Amino acid sequence: MPATTHCRICGGTVREFIDFGRQPLSDAFVDPDRGGEQEFFYRLATGVCQSCRMVQLMEEVPRERMFHESYPYLSSGSSYMRAHFEGVAKHFLTTELTGEDPFIVELGCNDGVMLKAVADAGVRHLGVEPSGGVADLAAEKGIRVRKDFFEQATAADVKRTEGPADVIYAANTLCHIPYMDSILNGVTELLKPGGVFVFEDPYLGDIVDLTSFDQIYDEHFFLFAAQSVQAMAERHGLELVDVERIGVHGGEVRYTLARQGARTPSAAVAELLAEEEARDLAGLATLERFADNVRKIRDDLVSLLTRLRAEGKRVAAYGATAKSATVTNFCGLGPELVPFVCDTTPAKQNRLSPGTHIPVRAPEAFSSPYPDYALLFAWNHADEIMAKEQAFKEAGGRWILYVPEVRIV
Ligand code: SAM
Ligand code: TMP
Ligand code: ZN
Repeated sequence: MPATTHCRICGGTVREFIDFGRQPLSDAFVDPDRGGEQEFFYRLATGVCQSCRMVQLMEEVPRERMFHESYPYLSSGSSYMRAHFEGVAKHFLTTELTGEDPFIVELGCNDGVMLKAVADAGVRHLGVEPSGGVADLAAEKGIRVRKDFFEQATAADVKRTEGPADVIYAANTLCHIPYMDSILNGVTELLKPGGVFVFEDPYLGDIVDLTSFDQIYDEHFFLFAAQSVQAMAERHGLELVDVERIGVHGGEVRYTLARQGARTPSAAVAELLAEEEARDLAGLATLERFADNVRKIRDDLVSLLTRLRAEGKRVAAYGATAKSATVTNFCGLGPELVPFVCDTTPAKQNRLSPGTHIPVRAPEAFSSPYPDYALLFAWNHADEIMAKEQAFKEAGGRWILYVPEVRIV
């Protein structure tokens, strides 16, 4: 019998389709002096709800273990993402935020990458961000931040003190939050009658197409699709009124929810729903095929790295992403096969990657000297990184990619 659990959206039966085994927290970089004695492990496995079709983790990690004072991820670490979020801010400033004294609330504003442009425009805003270190960075940019988890009680308090919001926005944050009832109760309480709740997160359709199994880790509790988001919205008197596929982070969808009947759904909603139905996106057969493809990538990647080591090639990894925790721990990649990984994030440097303890070095380590092969863990930033690291290619270096399949470029 396959393992089951109860759906965090509707209470239905969730059937497991892939088990990655024991995994550490993806953003818990280890202090080498403490040898990882305090690493926390949980079972990373994913299933699909047989009622509402939401794809979700089988086990939840307590939120305070993931999002705290020293949460290391910095949204401003990519120039492409900075430009993306400036575009998002500009879009809201010229559409939803043009009325009398408009107000926007962002969940998971991180270091303020999106709200900075809103603050600069003098528009009333509030970031709700539980991770203290990154919230401080946003505050230093002149952004109003509340250090808190967004949930129903937070939303009620924000409404009491600041009034209702025209826009509630969340990027790469909603899919991190298992307690969705509390979130959507909060959203419906805080949102103006004609307001919108907009969120963008990795899209199940792209994850299946690319076999990007590294989108599955502790922080990514849900893998959304239009079908499951629509079902989730309806439970709270909300309606999916727009979807837009966006190219960032390996393929995401930006969903727009409004109160039922408040806005006319765009044609894109019906189109994406029909596409998901036609390809049986959340069907067990589709997801079990995905799981087979994941195991093939694991086997191919381990063979390639083992062969390169036998040939005496020098290998390094690029980008100590949260995603890579799933790759390194599922494939068993430690410093014997991947001697180090370089990363621009100060809080990750001079630490060890979670679980398999690959040393994380500053970007300068990459070029001194260049390795023969670079395993691109930050493959979602490939254009930006390959453009920046042209000298590596010119020096004869080759990139190793592993989605949608293992290959050298
Ligand atoms: N929005 C940024 C982006 O797209 O780059 C940051 C994304 S980061 C991967 C996820 C953020 O969500 C973290 O900064 C985390 O602290 C925050 N977060 C987690 N749970 C939250 C909650 N309940 N309410 C608000 N923010 C939350
Ligand atoms: P993300 O895929 O979750 O956005 O994480 C990207 C990681 O890669 C983050 O730790 C920063 C790092 N990074 C670099 O080291 N160099 C770069 O040029 C970029 C874009 C990211
Ligand atoms: Zn369900």
